[in-house]
Amino acid sequence: MTLSDFKVAIKKRVVLNALSTPGLECSTQAEQDDILKTLIEISKTNQYYSMCVLKKLISFLETSEVEINEDYYEYLMEWLNSQPLKPTDTDIIIYTLTHDFEIRIRESPNIISGLGTTGLRTWEASIFLAQYFCVNKILTGDLLELGCGTGLVSASLLKDQHVKNYGKMFVTDGDSQLLETVKENLILNGINHDENNFEIRRLFWGEDELPSSVQTIVAADVTYDSSIIPNLLRVVREGFNQNVKDVYLAATRRNEDTLAVWEQGLNDGEAAHLWSWTVASSTKEGDNVLLYGAHTPRIDIYHLQKIQS
Ligand SMILES: C[S@@+](CC[C@H](N)C(=O)[O-])C[C@H]1O[C@@H](n2cnc3c(N)ncnc32)[C@H](O)[C@@H]1O
Repeated sequence: MTLSDFKVAIKKRVVLNALSTPGLECSTQAEQDDILKTLIEISKTNQYYSMCVLKKLISFLETSEVEINEDYYEYLMEWLNSQPLKPTDTDIIIYTLTHDFEIRIRESPNIISGLGTTGLRTWEASIFLAQYFCVNKILTGDLLELGCGTGLVSASLLKDQHVKNYGKMFVTDGDSQLLETVKENLILNGINHDENNFEIRRLFWGEDELPSSVQTIVAADVTYDSSIIPNLLRVVREGFNQNVKDVYLAATRRNEDTLAVWEQGLNDGEAAHLWSWTVASSTKEGDNVLLYGAHTPRIDIYHLQKIQS
C-alpha cells in the first residue's frame, strides 16, 4: 500500500485487517511524521483507532529494521488505555474524494440505522456521487439534494470551487433532527452563508413542496426500500412538472427486487414523456476499495433528463 493510500484509508477508518503494511513507504522520518500527524488528528475523535493503527505500524517497522520515530512509542503509551467507540458515538471521518479534495463529516460510522433514520452515517453511494461531480462539472441552475443524510454530497458540491456555476443549493432531508448535524458538517468544511448560496430545509417526500426554481435534483442511497420509492417518484415527477431538467441519483444494488420497483417507476415516467433515463456511471469490481469497501455491491448513477417538447 502506498503512503497516500494508507492515509486515505485511515482517514476513512478502514478496518484494521484491510490496512496492508507490507510495502508501506514509511522508512524515512518525514514519512513517519506524516502518518503520525494524521493519527494525531484522528485521535481527537477516535483515540482507540489511532492506537490500533499505531500498534500495527510499530510492529511492522520493528520487523523491517527501520529506525522508528521515538514519538511513536510516546503516543502509543498515551493512547494505550483508550476504548473503542460505542455504535452511537460520533467520529469525524475524512473522505478523500480526489487527491487534493477532502470532506470532513461528523457521523456515527458504525450505525446502520438508529433514531428511526438511516441518515446517521454516510453511505457509499454518496461517496461515488460526490466523486462523479468532482470529475464531471455538469451542474447548472438551482440544485436540490433529497435525503441528504449526513450531507456529504451537498458539502462537496458547496465546497468544490469548480462547481460554482449552479445557483442556489437546497440541502434537504425528511428528518429535521438530522439537519442539525448537516449544518455542523457544512461548518466543519468551512461552508458558510457569506460565501455560499444555500438553504438547509426539511423536505419529506410527498408532504413538503419542492422549491419551484430547482433545475437539478441529486440524491444518494434513497432507493434502499421499496416502501419509500412511490413517494420518491412522486417528488421527482413533481420536479419534472415544474422546472427540473436533470436528476442524478446514485443507488447501491443491494436488492434487485427493490431496484426493479424503482426502474419500473422510471419506465413509467419515460412512457408518460416526462423524462428519459440512462445509467450514467457505475462502479466496477475492485474500484476504489478503500473508499467503498470490498463488499459493497455495484453502485449505479441514474440520470433522468427532461424530454424537450
Ligand atoms: C440510506 S440514507 C442515505 C443518506 C445519504 N444520502 C447518504 O448516501 O449517505 C437515506 C436518507 O433518506 C432519508 N429519507 C428516507 N425516506 C424519506 C422521505 N420519505 N422523505 C425524505 N427523506 C427521506 C433518510 O432520512 C436518510 O437520511
